[in-house]
Amino acid sequence: MHKAVTLVSVLVLGWSWTLQGDNVLPTPLYPTQENFNLSRMMGKWYELAVVSTSPHYMERKRENPVIAATELQHVASENNFTKTDSILRNGTCTQMSKVIGLTNTPGRFFHHETRLSADVDSFLVDSNYDEYAMMLQLSTEKPSGNLTTVVTLYSRTMDVRPAVLDDFKTLVKHHGMSDDAIIIQKNKDDCVSGEQVTKPITT
Ligand SMILES: *[C@@H]1O[C@H](CO)[C@@H](O)[C@H](O)[C@H]1NC(C)=O
Ligand SMILES: *[C@@H]1O[C@H](CO)[C@@H](O)[C@H](O)[C@H]1NC(C)=O
Ligand SMILES: *[C@@H]1O[C@H](CO)[C@@H](O)[C@H](O)[C@H]1NC(C)=O
Ligand SMILES: *[C@@H]1O[C@H](CO)[C@@H](O)[C@H](O)[C@H]1NC(C)=O
Repeated sequence: MHKAVTLVSVLVLGWSWTLQGDNVLPTPLYPTQENFNLSRMMGKWYELAVVSTSPHYMERKRENPVIAATELQHVASENNFTKTDSILRNGTCTQMSKVIGLTNTPGRFFHHETRLSADVDSFLVDSNYDEYAMMLQLSTEKPSGNLTTVVTLYSRTMDVRPAVLDDFKTLVKHHGMSDDAIIIQKNKDDCVSGEQVTKPITT
């Protein structure tokens, strides 16, 4: 009973316009983390597991299944935050930043990916902030209008509890993908090991 009431209010919020760009289509709503707290979401994360409906994306990840480090930073009063990925390119640790806009829906974000010429809606589906975060990303490519779904599991450390991984698999299946397709990233690259690690890596 309580759940139904919550869902209705979430739906109403989800169809409201986003703050960034009025040309953004109201994509179908996905529930986000309850009592979303942006400041708790900020900081360093490791990308541990990922799955996408895009064959190109999956190919790229399979070729290089390393745990990538991401840093989220929010400046108070700004309606956006930066996401900086540290990626190993030709033996050099390269940082790539993008600005991601907040929307009227807590836990829902928007940005435009120039490289793919795609509008990207993302949702923080589930997080306890201190340990894990599950993100759903929907990219609408232009002009084809093709939609790509990406589901990502982030962790504060380079490992995650089996129960969290099970929840992630359930989320992936919920979005119509097979949990067998999930790429669980195991190796750490020099980019990650060159940076401070808060917990020892379990092998
Ligand atoms: C969000 O989390 C921060 C840090 O834990 C806390 O200071 C703040 O009060 C929280 N904000 C809300 C709206 O709960
Ligand atoms: C980030 O948000 C601030 C304030 O809302 C805005 O002035 C700025 O242009 C935004 N940056 C980008 C890159 O969208
Ligand atoms: C990185 O390596 C690729 C493939 O080996 C090469 O095509 C590219 O020019 C290199 N880039 C740099 C900046 O060295
Ligand atoms: C869009 O998706 C269709 C069906 O999967 C595919 O045939 C087409 O090549 C895609 N277009 C682009 C530009 O990726």
